[in-house]
Amino acid sequence: MIKIDISNVWGSVEFADLMAIEKEVAAAHTTLADGSGAGKEYLGWMNLPTREVTPEITRIQAAAEKIRANSDVFVVIGIGGSYLGSRAAIELLQGPNRNMGKGKGDPQIFYAGNSLSTRHWNELCRLLDEKDFSIAIISKSGTTTEPAVATRALRWMLERKYGTDGARERIYAITDPVKGALRQMANEEGWQTFSIPPSVGGRYSVLSAVGLLPMAVAGMDIQAVLSGSMDAKESYDLRSYENPVWLYAAIRNLMCRHGKHIELFESFEPGFQMFGKWWQQLFGESEGKDGKGLFPVTAEFTGDLHSLGQMIQQGRRNLFETMLRFDPPEQVCTVGSDVKNLDGLNYLAGKQLDFVEENAFLGTVAAHVDGGVPVITVDCGTLDEKKIGELFYFLELSCGISSYILGVNPFNQPGVELYKRNMFHLLGKPGYENM
Ligand code: PA5
Repeated sequence: MIKIDISNVWGSVEFADLMAIEKEVAAAHTTLADGSGAGKEYLGWMNLPTREVTPEITRIQAAAEKIRANSDVFVVIGIGGSYLGSRAAIELLQGPNRNMGKGKGDPQIFYAGNSLSTRHWNELCRLLDEKDFSIAIISKSGTTTEPAVATRALRWMLERKYGTDGARERIYAITDPVKGALRQMANEEGWQTFSIPPSVGGRYSVLSAVGLLPMAVAGMDIQAVLSGSMDAKESYDLRSYENPVWLYAAIRNLMCRHGKHIELFESFEPGFQMFGKWWQQLFGESEGKDGKGLFPVTAEFTGDLHSLGQMIQQGRRNLFETMLRFDPPEQVCTVGSDVKNLDGLNYLAGKQLDFVEENAFLGTVAAHVDGGVPVITVDCGTLDEKKIGELFYFLELSCGISSYILGVNPFNQPGVELYKRNMFHLLGKPGYENM
């Protein structure tokens, strides 16, 4: 189980506050588990964890093996919940530079359809030049503009390169089982498809084929991811403050009530950046409605201590931090000794880099707490596939409970839908003339 240390929040919240909110946490958990709350038709994510090797998992693994064998590059087309989760998992586990030196057998993974930038598009075309590649088109609705534009161009690129039949072997669609333009197109063109259950919303879909196919292509053990999420499903059903989900959801809401309206979610791992972005979408879209919610911000230390650190330490006192810690890897790294010692670093000679990092962490927490910034520390233990599955479920459950305490529907995103419709209208999409 993940361990949460809340010893650095006292002063901003009192023990009595924690006791007082306990009933609300219990009620929110029951509402979620009973499926009796707002957005109850979108609770399918709670059934995604499994320890079984289902036919769907076997199909995902077979598709991933084929892609790994025939592609130098795998392009994941999708935006928001349709790509953030897989990218988060892959980069947290394999590092932000995992693509370096990769090719057929263990393909590079690029992402498309998450912006409308011509520069990004030109760069992708250059990167794909002369490469064998496959694509996964991921869209729950099947109609989102950014991935749709990227799909049209990339599938044509594939068809020009491999012919229609050859391209068909390299295109995978992950979408609604019945509805939407992508489903219709996939059926018509004969592409291999995977379904996103209608009861699973975009930002809660990482443990479906949406997240699992790219993770499997990256060489991750997706059964371990799912089994970690199943462990989480079982252990985090506990109905007391011994459950770290309860503590996290309670403290977040208390912070919000006490004027700490910004949550900074951070870690000391550079590979954490996309995981932070996944968390940002999960909590931002789930809670940010009806004039409520904490503003989610993400950072990687120590790098961001040299940019955001000053603001955290001495800026407006409206934020708190949630800091994820992972055990150091087995392979250690030691600071060397230098005869001249011109950089004055010999006082660290022989010390492991983890020792330096641990002290940076302790120093950071002490400084921020001194500066009036409460810090929740989340001790995640070993970073591996199982832990990633556990973290995904832990945070999804925390988000559902936290949102119900806040009094919002965690499973809709009316603001995002409005942006999508406005764009259809402005671009002249038929059917969106009168808005
Ligand atoms: O959580 C959500 O539902 C959204 O943020 C979606 O993930 C995002 O808008 C992409 O939508 P789609 O998968 O329908 O293309």
